[in-house]
Amino acid sequence: MCGIVGYLGEKEAFPLLIKGLKRLEYRGYDSAGIAVLGDDGKLQHHRRKGKVDDLLAHMEGRVPSGSLGIGHTRWATHGPPNDVNAHPHLSGDGQLALIHNGIIENYHALKETLVARGHTFYSDTDTEVLVHLIEEILKSSEDLDLFEATRVALNEVVGAYAIAVVDVARPGELILARKSSPLVIGIGDGEFFVASDATPIIEYTKNVVYLEDEEVAKVSLSSGLKIRTIKNHRVTPVITELEMAMESIEKGGYEHFMLKEIHEQPRSIADCLRGRLRLGHGAIRMAGIDDHQQMWTDAQRLIIVACGTSWHAGLIAEYMFEDFARIPVEVEYASEFRYRNPVIGEGDILIAISQSGETADTLAAIRMAKEKGAHVFGICNVVGSSISRESHSGAYTHAGPEIGVASTKAFTAQLAVLALCAIRVGRLRGALDEQRFNRLMVDLSGIPEKVEALMQLEPEIEKIAEEFKNAPNALFLGRGYNFPVALEGALKLKEISYIHAEGYPAAEMKHGPIALIDENMPVFIVATKDAHYDKVVSNIQEVKARGGKVIAIVTAGDSEVKSMADKTIEVHRADDAFVPLLSTIPFQLLSYHIAVKLERNVDQPRNLAKSVTVE
Ligand code: M6R
Repeated sequence: MCGIVGYLGEKEAFPLLIKGLKRLEYRGYDSAGIAVLGDDGKLQHHRRKGKVDDLLAHMEGRVPSGSLGIGHTRWATHGPPNDVNAHPHLSGDGQLALIHNGIIENYHALKETLVARGHTFYSDTDTEVLVHLIEEILKSSEDLDLFEATRVALNEVVGAYAIAVVDVARPGELILARKSSPLVIGIGDGEFFVASDATPIIEYTKNVVYLEDEEVAKVSLSSGLKIRTIKNHRVTPVITELEMAMESIEKGGYEHFMLKEIHEQPRSIADCLRGRLRLGHGAIRMAGIDDHQQMWTDAQRLIIVACGTSWHAGLIAEYMFEDFARIPVEVEYASEFRYRNPVIGEGDILIAISQSGETADTLAAIRMAKEKGAHVFGICNVVGSSISRESHSGAYTHAGPEIGVASTKAFTAQLAVLALCAIRVGRLRGALDEQRFNRLMVDLSGIPEKVEALMQLEPEIEKIAEEFKNAPNALFLGRGYNFPVALEGALKLKEISYIHAEGYPAAEMKHGPIALIDENMPVFIVATKDAHYDKVVSNIQEVKARGGKVIAIVTAGDSEVKSMADKTIEVHRADDAFVPLLSTIPFQLLSYHIAVKLERNVDQPRNLAKSVTVE
């Protein structure tokens, strides 16, 4: 939530900031702003409700000049999205400009103290309080410079922050800090880049330093990068090389990132399996499991925590681990799990699934589990993200950057990693015999090709989208492995088209949702040839008997469902456990085309943000 960019060097900062903000806009897009320090010592400060393009339109061609600047794209928490609440926020004397991602939980108390000391606030934000607090500390002690004043101020702050601060009096330096919100510093040749993630930086340098929690950094043209903890311990910066490719963050000829990412799935799933699924050796190599074999063999229970789409992947994983490894599994919304008093301890393995690796609730859940003695296995897409760094072990999904807010390729890559883990653990615990193990490996290795084949169905799916785009509601049904696919289908449709959609286990329909069914209700149902096929056929009949419209995902060659359903979409046959990797694709394409036809902002749907770093 919220995107932060910064630049200090010799180039003009403004174009870099705007480009960076556009790359980060997926993180939040209700207002945007920049502050650039000119060579004349004047701060050029512009903010606007809306997107980065609205900011540019508002600036009417005025291009701020200067080689130190910060920029922000906001996802509102404190106060509505408007010009005044947009970042950067300034100190009372206008000398400091600050951008912030996160929430200052004790901002109210801090604000009252500052008001009592004569500070005036113009916005509703917690951020403005922080910049005034730094100003207050700076003014109250002549011995403190901006770096020190920021460090001292952050000791008074409760909450989450990634910040960048510019001081008019210090044109050669930029102050940064983070706690629970990500911040990456790019180290160039005589220049520094700062951003919430590496996408705005990759074009200029591959050398980055990921700031850790409660660290404050100063980047200076004269003295380079210096880091201390907020408790004033010196930290030696660790430079990491980025592996991201430029093409992966561009649309590459597609109209939207979401469509590009849907089409990337044959490759992203193959990338995820590569090197891990070793058909020739009859083995699966998962470092995070291989290095802790005894622990996985002895584990009493798995607890999976995640949010949103990642939680749906967790539900499918529950079926996989139970099926392949015969190990009890609980799947929890991270936001619920962390606020309970769950019984958890040594012998439990907590699997945290998160595309961004920054989701606040998931991060908090893993911290709690670690405190209680559980081993944390993180499954993340973003390399170097907080969850990946705070987990004891784990696996990356290697899907490449996912820019569309609606998760698509990250979801299928999560399923692929989870399938590998479940099969590997199943073999380790002796629950899978060699024959089934080999069969599963062969089946899984064929998935990318089957996903590729599904892309050919796009024109057909687009026609279905045209037919159902004006439905006010939609129901998604599935059983077994395809129940979470129904949940994911409904989430996808609602988040990008704003059509109300609900996902249910097909058998639950008759316990309530059936009351909704009439001729205006499209029912999207996964009816592939699996262990539940006959039961799903009965559910389809129940819908048809009440006049509902059935759009069914079926196994290639199916004739029974075809004779009943209004529309069918064929997927190739696969092991039941891997069908979700196929059956989810038509739902992604369907949601995408419905949203496009309704002229929605597909990549940046209203009210959402890609990375939910607030609780
Ligand atoms: O980055 P994470 O996987 O932790 O994010 C979890 C959810 O916020 C995310 O999956 C969200 O539900 C997506 N918008 C779904 O498309």
